[in-house]
Amino acid sequence: VSKIEIKLDQIPEGKNMTFKWRGKPLFVRHRTEKEIKTEDSVNLAELRDPQHDKDRVVNPKWVIVLGVCTHLGCVPIANAGEYGGYYCPCHGSHYDASGRIRKGPAPLNLEVPYYEFLDDDTVIVG
Ligand code: FES
Repeated sequence: VSKIEIKLDQIPEGKNMTFKWRGKPLFVRHRTEKEIKTEDSVNLAELRDPQHDKDRVVNPKWVIVLGVCTHLGCVPIANAGEYGGYYCPCHGSHYDASGRIRKGPAPLNLEVPYYEFLDDDTVIVG
């Protein structure tokens, strides 16, 4: 299936759910207000792959990224690591709650796929 429809009301605030899309894990994260504020205020000069949070989300409540570490492709763990986003246990890459790489060997941020909202509670990825 090339597109996946996700019902967002099944994902509580603060949680990340993993779906399967085009044979890969897809992370959908319902961010808290605190996470939204923290990621919005990150200084881009600190980033290895500089991208503003605004350019990685459509609605700041929802982070939608591929669950594929940009180092060698392991699946990171949600709500773990030093930046509170994702942690890849294979070689220790830390991502923030925008999916941006912050520490460890991965070179790039977690990839944001194309998606659009049908309404407040429904997103179509792909
Ligand atoms: Fe994730 Fe190496 S594959 S850190």
